[in-house]
Amino acid sequence: MSGASPRGPSVADRGTWPSPGAEAAAHSRRLAGVIGSALDAAGGWLSFADYMQLALYAPGLGYYAAGADKFGEAGDFVTAPEISPLFAEVCAAQIDGVLRALGGGEVLELGPGTGRFAAGALAEFRARGTPITGYSLLEVSPDLRSRQQALLAASDEPPVDARRIPPRWLDSLPAPFRGVLFANEVIDALPCERFVMRGGAAWRLGVGRAAGAARDDMPRFEWRARPADGACTGDAGFVAAMAQRLDDLAAAGVTLPEGCCGEFHPQLAAWVASLADVLEAGLLLFVDYGLPRTQLLHPDRAMGSLRCHHRHHAHGDPFLWPGLQDITAWVDFTALAEAGVAAGLEVAGFTTQAGFLLGGGIEARLAARLAPPTAGEAALGEVARAQLAQGVRRLLLPGEMGEAVKVMALAKDCGAPTAFALQDLRRGL
Ligand SMILES: C[S@@+](CC[C@H](N)C(=O)[O-])C[C@H]1O[C@@H](n2cnc3c(N)ncnc32)[C@H](O)[C@@H]1O
Repeated sequence: MSGASPRGPSVADRGTWPSPGAEAAAHSRRLAGVIGSALDAAGGWLSFADYMQLALYAPGLGYYAAGADKFGEAGDFVTAPEISPLFAEVCAAQIDGVLRALGGGEVLELGPGTGRFAAGALAEFRARGTPITGYSLLEVSPDLRSRQQALLAASDEPPVDARRIPPRWLDSLPAPFRGVLFANEVIDALPCERFVMRGGAAWRLGVGRAAGAARDDMPRFEWRARPADGACTGDAGFVAAMAQRLDDLAAAGVTLPEGCCGEFHPQLAAWVASLADVLEAGLLLFVDYGLPRTQLLHPDRAMGSLRCHHRHHAHGDPFLWPGLQDITAWVDFTALAEAGVAAGLEVAGFTTQAGFLLGGGIEARLAARLAPPTAGEAALGEVARAQLAQGVRRLLLPGEMGEAVKVMALAKDCGAPTAFALQDLRRGL
């Protein structure tokens, strides 16, 4: 996986962005046309959340709704399940503990990407004899859903547990169930609002048509800041969300200077409430890039956390070739905790990815894989050994994903997985 970049902020090298081929450029032009029409219909200004919704999820055209490779070396970025099989194994072992404590239950995975986490988790459940009654995958992208189905069908390990329970794909949230809902790097792909500080107030940073004629029939977009004065849809919600955030920052002694930008996910509370509604008892387990609020919205991050990814190049321009690049913003874990509590859940655990994986025994698993084979076992080749060790390093190292990615458990009538015992960061929320 060397050279492949994770979705966290990394190099800002928009200048070396590879040019798309003719077909990809035409695809992007079609999506830009759809976005331009939405922008015109909205009176010339579109919230960034609406832009991001279309850029990522416009049916048949958005980045996640269309067909190009996104994950891995041939794609745009890598995520933890693609970096190392031990990620899914450790998470599944922790989920196993929760399901046992519940006396058995289901797993629902949101945004399963390529399906690699599901394949690894199902293999681990099989190996452990986990009391799992079903594994559901909820994917908003039809393209990714078919990739998941192909991968799970071709998976070496049959994608069923010992009692042959096949995974099933859902179009919407299921009826209430007992068990675990798991989501890796899904919240940072939800549409976000963006703000900029002007004269001590938060202005909405939305999208307008760029001045000058469109080139090659390609509509061009640019940032447009305006005060949230009630003239546009969503202004009232933006004002309320920003008032709460600025109050929290003031209480912590943080003042955002003129020109400072930031983001938040306006759908988060409603989304978490809808997830809490389908959980009779058990856990919502989220893994994502992010920070507590007072560290995320901070003068040290004056340009916010918005990042775009294409072919392992990371940069900050979401208007470049819409539909051909991923767009993400870090998660405000204070907001996630607040959303959980408002939905009747308990914040049962909050730690770094490194803390969670180390607490879940990833080192012992790695050591066991790297140990000399016992009689009858096939030896792992040198390349495979090096890749395994390097993958785990990328998951754990502070300069890679170890600290930037956090894990949060929101619980209903259920204890926290044991992996949270190593490092408890809840007081920082
Ligand atoms: C960055 S990918 C992460 C994929 C995978 N979890 C992984 O770790 O490789 C984000 C995923 O979230 C999905 N997604 C976005 N919004 C969603 C929603 N509201 N519900 C479920 N999945 C969603 C996307 O389609 C995509 O599969």
